[in-house]
Amino acid sequence: MTDVFRGRTALVTGASAGIGAAMARDLARRGAELVLVARRADRLEALAAECRGLGVRAEAAPADLADPAAREALAARFGTIDVLINNAGFGIHAPLAEAAWARTELLLDVNIIALTHLTRLFAPGMAARGFGRILQVASVVGFLPVPLFAAYAASKAYVLSLGVALDAELAPRGVRVSVLCPGGTATEFFAVAQGGAAGERAGPPRMMSAEAVARIGLDGLARGRPVVVAGGMNRAAVFATRFAPRALAARLAYRAMRRR
Ligand SMILES: NC(=O)c1ccc[n+]([C@@H]2O[C@H](COP(=O)([O-])OP(=O)(O)OC[C@H]3O[C@@H](n4cnc5c(N)ncnc54)[C@H](OP(=O)(O)O)[C@@H]3O)[C@@H](O)[C@H]2O)c1
Repeated sequence: MTDVFRGRTALVTGASAGIGAAMARDLARRGAELVLVARRADRLEALAAECRGLGVRAEAAPADLADPAAREALAARFGTIDVLINNAGFGIHAPLAEAAWARTELLLDVNIIALTHLTRLFAPGMAARGFGRILQVASVVGFLPVPLFAAYAASKAYVLSLGVALDAELAPRGVRVSVLCPGGTATEFFAVAQGGAAGERAGPPRMMSAEAVARIGLDGLARGRPVVVAGGMNRAAVFATRFAPRALAARLAYRAMRRR
């Protein structure tokens, strides 16, 4: 474990559940001070107290990241953070033509606009101070088109492309950007994607734990790796996408997704 996060201040979005909550605990154990962001304030307060119990400063900063004013307010209040974990996001498991437009628009707002805006808000200060680390949470589905998760997979393809480009832009100024690509992970993600209440768990049978994914992501960020695919099976699957024509991959994915 490296010491790169010790004494640094990290802002973690989507810290009220799943991978974000696991990242917050892991960062606390690595000695980082924490700002925890999501909509559910009660969960953030409980997690902040837990992290303070590990000997670091931690505070809850409840915010709806779909709201641009809330993003600006975070930057005004926490402008000097060293580490940005852009983890908040969600999926929609439905045909695009049938999903409610408001929900699809919200997905694009949270997964793409909020992530890009927060990066734009915090990166200049990091560059001016000559140090920063930004983790953009994408997905293995960012490597291929996925029918029935089409807008979600496309949003993660955007995050993957953006993150790798930004690492090249910002590395000369001391700011490294890594893109974390998890595969199926046991969180509230699949319940939310199927329209169920957050708090439930569903999804494919074999999933990684949020803790393992968080550790792999933070290790990759500490080492300055531009793309971090979590887990050997997921790395093999991503490698295989290089050889399948995109249209064929989409049809195979459609068959697999319809069986779920
Ligand atoms: N689980 C998987 O299989 C998987 C695989 C690949 C990638 N990912 C990605 O990993 C990231 C974390 O997902 P997860 O699996 O940990 O899912 P999760 O348990 O559902 O957590 C999602 C987090 O995002 C937050 N969030 C959603 N909308 C928000 C908004 N408008 N404003 C602020 N926060 C918001 C949620 O908090 P509130 O509801 O409290 O706002 C929650 O903390 C996502 O970007 C997801 O796409 C997950």
